[in-house]
Amino acid sequence: MEKVTIKDIAREAGVSITTVSRVLNKKEEGMSKETREKVLRVIEKVNYQPNQLARSLVTKRSKMLGLIVPNISNPFFPELCRGAEDEANKSNYSLIICNSDDQSEKEENYLRLLKEQQVDGILLSSKDQLSQTSKIQLQESKTPFIIFDRGEESNQHPGVFLDNEKGGYLAGQHLIQLGHTQIACLTGPTNINNSQKRLAGFQRALKEASIELPESFILTGDFQMDTAHRIAREFLPNNTVTAIFACNDLMACGIYQAAHEIGIQIPEQLSIIGFDDIPLITALIPKLTTIRQNTYEMGRKAIELLINEIEHKPSEGVIFEPTLVVRESTKKIN
Ligand code: RIB
Repeated sequence: MEKVTIKDIAREAGVSITTVSRVLNKKEEGMSKETREKVLRVIEKVNYQPNQLARSLVTKRSKMLGLIVPNISNPFFPELCRGAEDEANKSNYSLIICNSDDQSEKEENYLRLLKEQQVDGILLSSKDQLSQTSKIQLQESKTPFIIFDRGEESNQHPGVFLDNEKGGYLAGQHLIQLGHTQIACLTGPTNINNSQKRLAGFQRALKEASIELPESFILTGDFQMDTAHRIAREFLPNNTVTAIFACNDLMACGIYQAAHEIGIQIPEQLSIIGFDDIPLITALIPKLTTIRQNTYEMGRKAIELLINEIEHKPSEGVIFEPTLVVRESTKKIN
């Protein structure tokens, strides 16, 4: 079957090619409702599939956006991608989702690939700070981009982040209000901004309450469940903490596993608070108390800013507020 072209639609509808093109590109100001509907009826009748490549040559837009995340296996990131995808689809953009596996090299390769694909914009949650190469790639490609979740907040470039310091503070404050004084913190990787800020907020809460946090109670994790499990297996039997703040929910899952294996009851013998509020944790018993990030909305907002950048509209960066969600894994000390 011959491929239907925009010319065929124009002939069939009895309008000009420009009119059909305006309908396809949703630039219908001043066009009568009847004309628009006539064109749409023909488009539907002939099942017209626009040639995206040809279209992008005319509009200079590929209608594709790149989204780079550091670890797609962590359920936090698919949630972020969902918000981004839904918002992108609203404006007829498709997403190319890339997973950098926390490796600068992979991130740099993906930046190169996205440039080759001529994406209209890039959303980047970097491994930690942008590598020098990534920075140069972004500057040189002149592709609009937004940094979100991880990376540096900057006045020069809008981004979407969480107030991570406040999140850590809320976690500390909650445990203190329950009467805990022997509290450990399992951090994320020390080179990640998010992770440093969560610890700083937690330390601030303890300091305000004049509670000591010995160095040995600060455990360095990597946001991964297995590592958290291993660390907790070593730490819990040899220490007398009554509470622990895990700087993300996946690590809280690892602590649950270790506590179960050692025979420590949650929350009777150990209170645990996580961070993120990933959907998976609703299956945990007891249900995990956590610091919630509005992850879906962050992904959505980041795309909104990116589209503003692409369309040269003014946009301002956003810092989301974390909230405490009290469930069953934290308890007043007896
Ligand atoms: O769980 C993964 C963590 O890494 C989240 O807390 C998120 O903020 C990200 O940076």
